[in-house]
Amino acid sequence: MRYMIDTANIEEIKDIIEFFPIEGVTTNPTLVSKEKMDFKTLVTGIRDVIGPDRVFFVQLRGDTAEEMIEEARALKKLIGDNYVAKIPMGRAGLKAVMTLSKEMPCCVTAICSRQQAMLAARAGASFVAPYVNRLDNIGAGGVEIACDIAGMLDHYGLPCEVVGASFKNVDQVQECAMGGCHVVTLKAEMFDMLASHPLTDSGIAGFDKDWKAFYGENKILDLLK
Ligand code: G3P
Repeated sequence: MRYMIDTANIEEIKDIIEFFPIEGVTTNPTLVSKEKMDFKTLVTGIRDVIGPDRVFFVQLRGDTAEEMIEEARALKKLIGDNYVAKIPMGRAGLKAVMTLSKEMPCCVTAICSRQQAMLAARAGASFVAPYVNRLDNIGAGGVEIACDIAGMLDHYGLPCEVVGASFKNVDQVQECAMGGCHVVTLKAEMFDMLASHPLTDSGIAGFDKDWKAFYGENKILDLLK
């Protein structure tokens, strides 16, 4: 399973990509609006920070397939390679994917059922984004739906990956990993939740104490001089 970060905040992105293995950035209209910045400046700013090799998902806002197609082409021109057109699930979205997927990778988002995902994959989407926690919140089994979709796509050999979205705890992420989800996109604060464990902290504190008891404040390079 691979990791992406789900934010449009440039400082969060800078921090997380420095310390964690992040394949790309996903955004949505809520996350983008939260930054209260000129849209074009924000999008190009994120691209500058993440470099040309990471994937960058920006969601379309058009009401019709034709509007979405125009938006995606303009965004691709601005963002360059590795732009992924994020398209809301629905009739217009599916129609847009059937054209756009010949020009650029598409991610169909706000997926809440297995058949929505199947339709998106058949339309040509490279990614589908099920909303895990929002489904879990209403007792609809978000983790199970995301994992079933991953299994279904793999079973039929469809070139479409699950980007699980909307996570709130480590268990949801871990269960999606065990269930075959290909990618998860996480809020910045979740990376430290995934990386930390009290036994790791106490283990490392023990190494530090034992080393200092004999070598004091010397680091390895001091002792190799
Ligand atoms: O991109 C979808 C994701 O951001 C939704 O997450 O936390 O608003 O449920 P959340």
